[in-house]
Amino acid sequence: MKSMRITHHPVLGKLEEKREVKFTFDGKPFSAYEGETIAAALLAHGVRTLRIHEEKKSPRGIYCNIGHCFECRVRVDGKSVVRSCITPVTDGMSVESGMLNVSASMKGVKP
Ligand code: FES
Repeated sequence: MKSMRITHHPVLGKLEEKREVKFTFDGKPFSAYEGETIAAALLAHGVRTLRIHEEKKSPRGIYCNIGHCFECRVRVDGKSVVRSCITPVTDGMSVESGMLNVSASMKGVKP
């Protein structure tokens, strides 16, 4: 799969000039650029489902992308209800969907 990452941005500059960091999502290894949000880094790898709705069991991901709706919430290093769209990835971070169904939706995603 071709990367979906924006590599040239008129305001943020060139991403490839930034340091690469490693993190995991539901135990699978991923990379990100320093300063990139969790949601953006996962989307760059083709991961669109960040959790499963508690009652409807439907996939949830980025919605507002500005920290208002909480649709993108994940667990980070054991802390629940972290909004992935406004939380930067840090090296060694452990991100969890909290739902096993999300791992199943990542079939075919190459970290
Ligand atoms: S997508 Fe709305 S809070 Fe993250």
